Amino acid sequence: MQKDARICIALFQQPGIYGRMHVVMQVTGRKKVCKLFAGILILTMVCWSLESYVHSSILDRLSQYENAYNPGGCRDLLLSKLIFKHRNDLGAILQKLGFTVGAELGVQQGFFAETTLKQWPGAKTYLLVDVWSEQDKYSDAANVNNAKQNNYYEQTKHRMSPFIANGVDVQICRNFTSICAKQYPAHYFDYIYVDARHDFKSVYMDLVDWWPKLKPAGIFAGHDYVSQNEGPAQSGQDWTINFDGTIDTTGTVVKGAVNKFAAEQNVTVHVSQEAWPTWAIIKPVIH
Ligand SMILES: C[S@@+](CC[C@H](N)C(=O)[O-])C[C@H]1O[C@@H](n2cnc3c(N)ncnc32)[C@H](O)[C@@H]1O
Repeated sequence: MQKDARICIALFQQPGIYGRMHVVMQVTGRKKVCKLFAGILILTMVCWSLESYVHSSILDRLSQYENAYNPGGCRDLLLSKLIFKHRNDLGAILQKLGFTVGAELGVQQGFFAETTLKQWPGAKTYLLVDVWSEQDKYSDAANVNNAKQNNYYEQTKHRMSPFIANGVDVQICRNFTSICAKQYPAHYFDYIYVDARHDFKSVYMDLVDWWPKLKPAGIFAGHDYVSQNEGPAQSGQDWTINFDGTIDTTGTVVKGAVNKFAAEQNVTVHVSQEAWPTWAIIKPVIH
């Protein structure tokens, strides 16, 4: 039998990574290289499991304390660098906090909505806001033609169907964010994710329109905490063009709007540790 075929059969018969590596060592005779490789592999896996154990136990303890004794009290810590590494962590945080009502402004194909809801089985209501229409003065990879926009809308509905089947009240407002905001009362949402237009004026307007709709101690977050030269320019998008055709000469776009708003509200901006970072703010509880 060929040497390669013997390796493959032996590999499938041996349980566990170390067992499999052992077979490779025996058959190939390259003991040192294989041992080193197996060692690195095992060490990496131990580190991963340790990190995820620490991560989830801190998240558990903080959210238990939060929910039992001090709602809103240590939520800033929950979003600290220790916990909030990637925007995909948000769904699990919302679940731990017992949140039930969320919104996403700017949905596109519904990918992030799906990721969030998969980790948030306690969600009862999730509002999706998107105009799903090509726009003027909008230099953004998301500004595709109307045939594609209609397809994105259909894709979103399809992606949401398992959650609807599980009882989530998925609401869709196919309109501009400023118009949809008017349909919701103050303090309605536990969580709002802002990811529609990315020019300074649009982001700032979304923040001002939707902040009152968030409950105290709720999480206000959004995508792409960058300035024009931290990604948009390099990817051929010009976010310095505001929705009204004026130019954001500061070039600070999303980052500038979020920082201005946070300074006005005197709140901390938490930022995930990834390319195209997500920002997050806890709405203060006024006692
Ligand atoms: C970046 S995409 C959203 C991506 C999505 N949140 C995700 O992570 O999968 C931006 C979306 O916002 C929508 N949009 C842009 N400006 C808008 C506005 N003023 N009102 C409503 N939707 C808007 C666009 O149609 C586009 O689908």
